[in-house]
Amino acid sequence: MPRLRPAREEDLPAIAKLSHDTLLLGRAGERVFPSRELWGELFVAPYLRRGCCNLVAEEEGAVLGYILGACGDLALACYLLPRLPRLFFRLLLGRYGPVWPHVRYLLRLLLYPGPKASRRRYPAHLHIAVSPEAQGKGLGKALLAAFLNCLQSKGVKGVQLSTTRANAAARRLYQALGFRLHAKKASPFWAPYHGHPVIHEVWVKEL
Ligand SMILES: CC(C)(COP(=O)(O)OP(=O)(O)OC[C@H]1O[C@@H](n2cnc3c(N)ncnc32)[C@H](O)[C@@H]1OP(=O)(O)O)[C@@H](O)C(=O)NCCC(=O)NCCS
Repeated sequence: MPRLRPAREEDLPAIAKLSHDTLLLGRAGERVFPSRELWGELFVAPYLRRGCCNLVAEEEGAVLGYILGACGDLALACYLLPRLPRLFFRLLLGRYGPVWPHVRYLLRLLLYPGPKASRRRYPAHLHIAVSPEAQGKGLGKALLAAFLNCLQSKGVKGVQLSTTRANAAARRLYQALGFRLHAKKASPFWAPYHGHPVIHEVWVKEL
């Protein structure tokens, strides 16, 4: 049975792999964002180094699932913003492979932000994934429940997260742990990769 433990710096490659392997609405997305390394620098390292209540599910040394959170945005921004020029420069030099798919993804992220709930009422947010072979066995539920306990123990008032209408497993998980749908918006963000727009949702929970 996998055990839950706090995520550590040395988990970065395993979490980045799992996160990158599920980036395309739960499936691998190399053509969407080819570099796992850059993905890890942008979307995993800030949480691991400046987030809160980060956990992994580990079995025999392998990371089977993770939950990365932030109790607020400021710490993440303070970590990432000064590092962006160097990462962007390396990207332009081709250190992360082809430039255009990465630039395109990042530009689309800026152009088509998903709906958000009030950061004052719901300051925390999270990312979660379980490796495909370990899904459907309660690991996602265990990670999210432990994460919510941790937020509560820190006195955090509320938490929000983003998902899509297409992600049945994630929606079921959030419902099971007491989240409610707060807002939704059809967004063209995934359209080039999926062939159609996808409905983006923000779910919230008071703590
Ligand atoms: C979403 C995810 C983390 C769920 O983790 P999991 O370990 O498979 O989930 P659990 O086994 O704990 O199940 C949690 C709930 O979801 C339901 N569920 C799990 N897989 C499901 C599926 N494929 N379809 C519908 N419901 C599903 C379970 O029945 C359970 O609900 P219940 O308690 O009411 O029965 C996992 O599917 C995943 O990593 N997906 C890819 C990454 C991703 O999409 N992350 C979320 C981004 S918003």
